[in-house]
Amino acid sequence: MTANEIRTKYLEFLKERGHTIVPSVSLLPDEHTVLFTIAGMQPMMPYLLGETHPGGTRIADSQQCFRSTDIEEVGDNRHTTFFEMLGNWSFGDYYKKEQISWMFELLIKEMGINPQNFYVTVFGGSDQIARDTESVEIWKGLFAGVGIDAKDIDNAESDGMQGGRIFYYGEKKNWWSRAGVPANMPAGEPGGPDTEMFYDFGDTGQHDKAVFGDVCHVNCDCGRFMEIGNNVFMEYIKQEDGSFASLPSKNVDFGGGLERMVAASQNQPDVFLTDSFEPIIKRLEEIFDAKEGLNDYKSEPRVYRIMSDHLKAATMLIAAGVEPSNKAQGYYLRRLIRRAVRFSRIHPFMHANTFGAEVVKVVIEMYKDQYPELLEKKDHICDVLTKEETKFSTTLAQGLKEVNKNPILDGDIAFKLYESFGFPFELTEEIARERGQNVEYGEFRKAFEKHQEISRAGLEKKFGGHGLLLDTGELKAGSEEELKIVTRLHTATHLMQQALRDLFGPAVHQMGSDITAERTRFDFNFDRKLTDEELRKIESVVNEVIQKDLPMQMIVMPFEEAKHTGALYFFKEKYPESVNVYFAGNTLEDAYSKEFCGGPHVTHTGEIGVFKINKEESSGSGVRRIRASVA
Ligand code: ALA
Repeated sequence: MTANEIRTKYLEFLKERGHTIVPSVSLLPDEHTVLFTIAGMQPMMPYLLGETHPGGTRIADSQQCFRSTDIEEVGDNRHTTFFEMLGNWSFGDYYKKEQISWMFELLIKEMGINPQNFYVTVFGGSDQIARDTESVEIWKGLFAGVGIDAKDIDNAESDGMQGGRIFYYGEKKNWWSRAGVPANMPAGEPGGPDTEMFYDFGDTGQHDKAVFGDVCHVNCDCGRFMEIGNNVFMEYIKQEDGSFASLPSKNVDFGGGLERMVAASQNQPDVFLTDSFEPIIKRLEEIFDAKEGLNDYKSEPRVYRIMSDHLKAATMLIAAGVEPSNKAQGYYLRRLIRRAVRFSRIHPFMHANTFGAEVVKVVIEMYKDQYPELLEKKDHICDVLTKEETKFSTTLAQGLKEVNKNPILDGDIAFKLYESFGFPFELTEEIARERGQNVEYGEFRKAFEKHQEISRAGLEKKFGGHGLLLDTGELKAGSEEELKIVTRLHTATHLMQQALRDLFGPAVHQMGSDITAERTRFDFNFDRKLTDEELRKIESVVNEVIQKDLPMQMIVMPFEEAKHTGALYFFKEKYPESVNVYFAGNTLEDAYSKEFCGGPHVTHTGEIGVFKINKEESSGSGVRRIRASVA
């Protein structure tokens, strides 16, 4: 069965059993403690904790998920960053008996999975929670119904299969919470034992005896078994004292990877060779006019597999509203795109044209019925992807030259690659690994901090000539206290310059600026006195931006590239090869203000307080001067 058929079959099956089908929520959760939706249960948190779901006590869906932690796993037969999780929930309604029996019926009878290839694991018990013998009995009954005498086995991990079909594992494998094992769960987090379902593809020839010995078991990493679904019996909540209490009701939380169910239903051990990826890989083969060897997961590098995963995920993330950046979700999107671009250059015959948008079109074609909003956003997605691709392409070749110049890659080089060529740290780390080397994140971080200190030292003449803590020529502060005020005034000055340009047009720009703890004094080109009304207008625009509490962020960029971002700079000044661009906003593209600048700045505009213009006067011919303060 195809992915679209399985999704439909699953949802219909649960609908027939009283479930309300709800749409997928955004990949970007409302909850701010997590960056992405990583499991179908995430939007169900309030209901697992006891709130009433508007759809009732039985809910099912197909939820888009993104797991950034799997980026580097991609390329084997089963890991992907973006996937769809088929989910169903009982909020204090049915429990183990119904859930397990339905899943057996669905997979074996409806999807045609051969029960001989079907294995399960159950929770073997811990100090606090008993072994789940109830689920074992239910499974045994179901297997008996198809003529299989299902033996239950302990210690599979060390003793292998032993002819068993139901295997007990401990907390590490058969306990599910968003935070993992019970010890890692924060107070207030729900969790519970689970019973997981596996499909046996037979020996894939991937069992690594050096690592695993002769013992292969359902949770072995060799790719023989693929987990296709997880039934969590969520009935516990972690307490402040580390113990567990019961949730208001006993809940079922089921999640199964659609792409893996498809693979199992097709007896195809490789998700990349199913219709979840094949159209994308086919398009890549056309674009690069190369087939041979590139699509084989047993051989390195696994370029098409990685590119197809990353570009599909990038499509979905952009559709969800993410833009590439150096922070949070944007960083992961950037990493995916840049990694895909780098892999596209790995073979000499792979050309350097942009190709992402071509892949986006295929992805949208595959998913448009399920997610019609993709069609509406098509142009935007292609634009964002192509922009990021182009941006990185311009520095990638130089960056790779830099890589090749250095026999050993270390933290300083990783930083240089990041700063000057836009290599996310992980990319350098990966290139190092390909060479059998190792770059520590700590070293990269140190190089980063060293660089920041040097640029700060360039600005701060600590207790220098004037006995000042900070003297950049533009900014002066004599103490830590003053430094804080000067910093707020400095960001306010950026906002004011933008407000002036909003009002009087882009020809208006800074002619001079002097900031002390008392005030900012800002000179700009303009040929008449400003009216009171204009001054109040500027004041209120700045205060509105302050109220929005926009993040004030900085990106290091090559000068040539920075010039094209629309950031303000002095035409006559000589800038170094790479410059700092400060911007007030969530992304550089939609920032309210952007300027080349040495800092320092507040981290959020809200820290500025209330902005007030105190005086406006002439400062020579065609130049006006504003003095303003913050409180
Ligand atoms: N929440 C469970 C999982 O993600 C079903 O595996």
